[in-house]
Amino acid sequence: MAPIDRRCWPGSLENPLRRWLSPPSRDLDLLGVEESDVVADLGAGVGFYDLEILHRVGPHGRLFAVDPDGDNLEVAHRRVKEDPRVVWLPISAAQVDAIPEGSVDRVLLSLVICCLVDKEGVMDQTWRILKPGGVAFVSYLRRSIRPRSRRQSLRVLPSRWEAIERRRGWVVRPVPSSWLVARHLLQKPEASPR
Ligand SMILES: C[S@@+](CC[C@H](N)C(=O)[O-])C[C@H]1O[C@@H](n2cnc3c(N)ncnc32)[C@H](O)[C@@H]1O
Repeated sequence: MAPIDRRCWPGSLENPLRRWLSPPSRDLDLLGVEESDVVADLGAGVGFYDLEILHRVGPHGRLFAVDPDGDNLEVAHRRVKEDPRVVWLPISAAQVDAIPEGSVDRVLLSLVICCLVDKEGVMDQTWRILKPGGVAFVSYLRRSIRPRSRRQSLRVLPSRWEAIERRRGWVVRPVPSSWLVARHLLQKPEASPR
């Protein structure tokens, strides 16, 4: 079984307040998901974005939905139903060898990296699977919403994020963040070093 770095309660991922405050369309507009795109939703959870992604990519698009939490992924699967465009992968985003190198147009990492131990490993995989010119959208909570939690802090410190951006040849595109949620758009250059 793939390790789940942090479990998320389905009700915290899918609720009317979240849909109202932060509809999936807003992040997908920033990511620029288009007709016929191949999209990887890494840490897909209960599939908050997946119906909208499938609507946008149309009949010739494809979606890799990745999450080591099989229970959450099962909720996403039930929501989407049987759809030949979707590949369900109950594995860690740090080990997505099942997704071929340079095969993906868009990677979505929504509120995932703040739940991961191996943040660099996941970003390296993101780089590997993206096509040249492909784009990744990464959002994470800037601060813990459970300050007294005894759980290990997986918070993304600014210095760690800056080092992640420098680790590869990412082109950083500016996108708006909020006081609670940091958002980043990273593009793999057309002609990129490995
Ligand atoms: C806060 S939820 C976000 C879910 C979804 N991206 C969203 O925005 O609704 C974080 C997700 O990361 C998943 N996760 C934990 N460890 C992971 C890993 N190693 N690789 C990929 N996903 C992981 C959890 O199972 C959970 O579904």
